[in-house]
Amino acid sequence: MSAYKVGYFVGSLAKASINRKLAAALVRMAPPELVLSEIRFGDLPHYCYDFDPDYPAVARKFKDELADVEAFLFVTPEYNRSIPGALKNAIDWGSRPWGKNSFARKPSAIIGTSPGKIGTAIAQVHLRSILAFCNSPLMNSIEAYIQFEPGLITDDGEVHNPATAEFLGGFMSEYAGFVQRVYTVLPRPS
Ligand code: FNR
Repeated sequence: MSAYKVGYFVGSLAKASINRKLAAALVRMAPPELVLSEIRFGDLPHYCYDFDPDYPAVARKFKDELADVEAFLFVTPEYNRSIPGALKNAIDWGSRPWGKNSFARKPSAIIGTSPGKIGTAIAQVHLRSILAFCNSPLMNSIEAYIQFEPGLITDDGEVHNPATAEFLGGFMSEYAGFVQRVYTVLPRPS
């Protein structure tokens, strides 16, 4: 069976994003059943349904990238106890026009890191609600709330804490199994 194409979102637009470091680690740890590519969204304008009849080129490209993958991985910070506005904006673009929701029936998993002890837990609850509404089957377990400490993960995704490395590897293995199970009952996109 061919590997599953996974599009991953890094919820932060910051150059020094700790969630980008986490995403780099997850890419390194992905099992061979998953092929990861980043879906970037920083150039999207603010979504408004006035665009629905004629999406601008940047949004059409974004929609094409969503269509091209079979599953999603969200690596996101928590901003003011929710997900960053730019990520919500991107999901709004992806969910529309009505009847062309790009997330429908494609499995997702969520992970995030923050310097604080709750490790993005509240943002993840919000994101679960959003993705459930978008009809994306969600991996329930393993939950992953990563407390970031300086030096935990390098820019290129090397994890310095062995316990964290083992946990993240387990998360990616579980996610691969989840994607396979979803596509055992749903047809794969052609
Ligand atoms: C934060 N931060 C934060 N942390 C947290 O645990 N819960 C929160 O609600 C917030 N709120 C928040 C709002 C805004 C606007 C900023 C900029 C930051 C701190 C946040 O976890 C920290 O800046 C991380 O470095 C953000 O992740 P990225 O952007 O570096 O990946």
